[in-house]
Amino acid sequence: MQRSLLPFILVPLTLLSWLRAYIIYHEAVSSLYGVQITTPSKNVSVDLPKFDNLTIGDRRENILYFMQVSDLHISKYYKPGGASHFLYFLSTALPVVSPSFVLVTGDLTDGKEQYYGRSNQIIDEWLTYQTALQESGVLDRPNFWYDMRGNHDCFDMSSWNSEQNLYRQYSVVKKRGFDFMVEKTFGRYRFIGIDACPKSGPSRPYNFFGYYEINDMDRLSEKLLDESSNHTFLLAHYPKATLLFGKTSKGEAFEDLSEHISVYMCGHLHKLALGLGDHLQIYRPTNYLELELGDMKVNAVYRILAIDHDLVSYIDVQLPLPEIPLKNPPPPADGFSILPEKLPYPPIILITNPKGSAYTMKYREPVQRIKYSTHIRMLIFSDHDIDTISIFLDGKLHDQDVYYKGNSRNDKEYIPLWTSQWSPSNFDDGKNHVIVVKARDISGQVGESKLIFRVDGERSSMNGGISEFLMGLDWAAVGQSLFFIAHVTLTIYLLAAKLYVTYYPNHPLIVSFHASKKTIPQSFFRKTFLLVSQPIFFYTLYFYLLAIITMPLFIGHMIPSSPQGGYGLFWIYGIQFFQNLRWLPLADTWRHAVIDFVFSIAIVVIWFLVITGDRRWRTKWLLWGVILWLWRGSELYKLSQVYGHFVFWANVQTFWWLFWGWYGISKGIVS
Ligand SMILES: *[C@@H]1O[C@H](CO)[C@@H](O)[C@H](O)[C@H]1NC(C)=O
Ligand SMILES: *[C@@H]1O[C@H](CO)[C@@H](O)[C@H](O)[C@H]1NC(C)=O
Ligand SMILES: *[C@@H]1O[C@H](CO)[C@@H](O)[C@H](O)[C@H]1NC(C)=O
Repeated sequence: MQRSLLPFILVPLTLLSWLRAYIIYHEAVSSLYGVQITTPSKNVSVDLPKFDNLTIGDRRENILYFMQVSDLHISKYYKPGGASHFLYFLSTALPVVSPSFVLVTGDLTDGKEQYYGRSNQIIDEWLTYQTALQESGVLDRPNFWYDMRGNHDCFDMSSWNSEQNLYRQYSVVKKRGFDFMVEKTFGRYRFIGIDACPKSGPSRPYNFFGYYEINDMDRLSEKLLDESSNHTFLLAHYPKATLLFGKTSKGEAFEDLSEHISVYMCGHLHKLALGLGDHLQIYRPTNYLELELGDMKVNAVYRILAIDHDLVSYIDVQLPLPEIPLKNPPPPADGFSILPEKLPYPPIILITNPKGSAYTMKYREPVQRIKYSTHIRMLIFSDHDIDTISIFLDGKLHDQDVYYKGNSRNDKEYIPLWTSQWSPSNFDDGKNHVIVVKARDISGQVGESKLIFRVDGERSSMNGGISEFLMGLDWAAVGQSLFFIAHVTLTIYLLAAKLYVTYYPNHPLIVSFHASKKTIPQSFFRKTFLLVSQPIFFYTLYFYLLAIITMPLFIGHMIPSSPQGGYGLFWIYGIQFFQNLRWLPLADTWRHAVIDFVFSIAIVVIWFLVITGDRRWRTKWLLWGVILWLWRGSELYKLSQVYGHFVFWANVQTFWWLFWGWYGISKGIVS
């Protein structure tokens, strides 16, 4: 009787735990989605822009261009790349390209300390940033440089007003995001930069995701509805895949607001690793483009974007450095304290008509203008005069001359425009075509640019492969789903097995211990039954599983620079500060949850299954168990080096870790 009662109590207990988990999750994200979750009926307008009679010809009008750089990671301790690349960017690329303005999408500084993976705001890095901008003349040009914070610029920061917020003192914008309109005779172009950093920034490693709460969404919605523009560019440090957009108080999601934007510009992911992030771009279902830019830090890339007759084009350029990343900072040039000598720079070619058809936005751009255009147009940025330009269309040399229709570099608004007459109707067959432009300057340096175009206004595939796929995922939702599925599956499996062995203790798989050979599934179930029949192990594991979804995992000094306010509870749902019990809906906690589930629960359970009921396996697998135990312990120790010793002592994971270490020894060696 007694034996059968205890497991039965687990059923309501499990259901109550799930209910509590549901309630806490909603509390944790209430600042993002509000209490009731309603979705307004979608009303996406899919009208094509009206045809108008503006013809793309050879005149220097209806065109502007600007630049983007991202992820500078100016670092005090890590020399390769970083500041060195940025200094060359300022001394060489900026004067050669001479854009109307520059947008910087975050991670201006690195903020990483030398030891133990610690991180905070380091004043030397901010001084380097400011000095470099000062020496390059950027600070003397109003409305030229627009910078925003990235997650590295808010490591270890209790609030926007904190002393630690060096961005507030040393950046150019100094505010939370920016919003400006470029007013031209031919159109209006809006640039909205949003700061989606955590309102209180923990130190590394749990400060990777951004979020945008209800009041932020309300402000953004207001801005987007406020004024009309030919194009609106939304800028954020985080790609949408790593930014939790909440809802407006009216219940609109980001998808609803995105009807008002043409391009979402971001950084943050650098180029990922192993070539996974070479094409981090995507065309979204609500008809805007999301374009991630690789980093200045290691890859030394920057982007030039042009809007020509309302068609948006861009090109990514790598600094012409002898090695990438540059190992050592360059010596300063005469008259500068840090800016280096200018580098020789081969011509850079940005073809603006025909635009690259992988980035066509027919619901945002007047794409029909390509078909009726009279000239190929390109911007060529060069240090020296251009000697020859050759255009190849589908591999054939274009037979029309190329003329300079730009102006002098000394003019107020420099536009190095080259044009050549063409007949787009020759290419109007509904297929992809290739244009290649080569330019040689008088010093013999050669630049080349190639793109796929179409004249029918349709989009070509981006062929972004895995990069495009990764951009399309919501990484936080993936982490949450993985954790949810794994957790529920294991819980139900253990509970079902426990109830089964309680009511059928004489199951042949359990009783006939040394019976004949078993199939793999039989062996698996036999081991499960034996494992759940060990009460100490079963109940500890089961209560641990319920604990991680209903209790905080640990107490951490999440913001070490803040003596009182920095302490908080680390739940899988987010971080809750002791001060005001305020929630930080930081999706990083899900990353922790998934990793911990895999390596501290799933693999541990598998290890116990392997050694259970089979003496042979015990000695063979003992070493792996020890290695796993030491590794998981070292991870806990490492975390305590960043977020304080409480992470070790006030941590439910530490108790589980100690328990299974002890139990593994008692099973594996002693018995
Ligand atoms: C969509 O919006 C238009 C204009 O704002 C309105 O006339 C129409 O009824 C809306 N459609 C739906 C399905 O709400
Ligand atoms: C624009 O072009 C179309 C077709 O060529 C023509 O019918 C129309 O009259 C033009 N409109 C204006 C305002 O010039
Ligand atoms: C910008 O929008 C206005 C208003 O819709 C339009 O008249 C103008 O032609 C557009 N500019 C360009 C360059 O297309």
